Amino acid sequence: MQITKTVDETRAVVKEWKRQGLTVGLVPTMGFLHEGHASLIERCRQENDRVVVSVFVNPTQFGPNEDLEAYPRDFARDSALCQEKGADLIFHPEPEDMYDDPRAYVSIEGLSDNLCGKSRPIHFRGVCTVVSKLFHIVAPDRAYFGEKDAQQLAIIRKMVKDLNFDLKIVGCPIVREADGLAKSSRNTYLSPAEREAALCLSRSIRRGKEVIGMGMDSQTLLKEMRAVIEAEPLARIDYVSVVDALTMEDVSSINRDVLVAMAVYIGKTRLIDNFSYEI
Ligand code: PAF
Repeated sequence: MQITKTVDETRAVVKEWKRQGLTVGLVPTMGFLHEGHASLIERCRQENDRVVVSVFVNPTQFGPNEDLEAYPRDFARDSALCQEKGADLIFHPEPEDMYDDPRAYVSIEGLSDNLCGKSRPIHFRGVCTVVSKLFHIVAPDRAYFGEKDAQQLAIIRKMVKDLNFDLKIVGCPIVREADGLAKSSRNTYLSPAEREAALCLSRSIRRGKEVIGMGMDSQTLLKEMRAVIEAEPLARIDYVSVVDALTMEDVSSINRDVLVAMAVYIGKTRLIDNFSYEI
């Protein structure tokens, strides 16, 4: 497995693979890899001749008061996991390799206004910008993203369609701990009491899945789901919403494919979870 730091080195490796007619898959990450990332790398390994994992804590997707500095990092552990899962290359740039006084950004209208975009106004512009850059640098045939970040996935799919990126986006299912908590690098911030409290997200998701098929409207569904979270004293809801699966706009009747998504603070840690419902 190779490790590259710069854009030029990475392009040279990929160019040689392409010259040999090999297909390339990309798993973009911010590192501190867990089983959720491992599942993306495994899927990428199955479907491509060469596997690239990018490990880059992208500063442009963090707001001024967010956890950029505190975001967990452990490159030695990440590279061991990538090696074990059969990655061929880790692209691990420094911020200055990726950004040199940037003036060009990629943003997407509408889909980034609701849900996480409401409380993280610059987040998706940063995500779209870095993901576009990674697509230009690695030129993958396929790129793999987790469904836990469902709004991010919808936005990236739309960006790829609108800007004619020549690759396939592959969404992969949420990976959960045995007790239901969705895997996240941010779970590491939780104290033991908070870790226990964080189970209210997956409990609420379970409740939502139980009742959504019963013909209720969004408000009734959300009331059921919110009640589960509100019963947990350490939890504070940022949002629990039912949105159109493609536009990310709130819907009142569940008469189309929807995403049911939530962001909840457990202490100071903001966690997300979701499920999709197809009619
Ligand atoms: O999902 C993430 O970890 C990040 O948002 C991504 C896609 C790697 C871009 O920095």
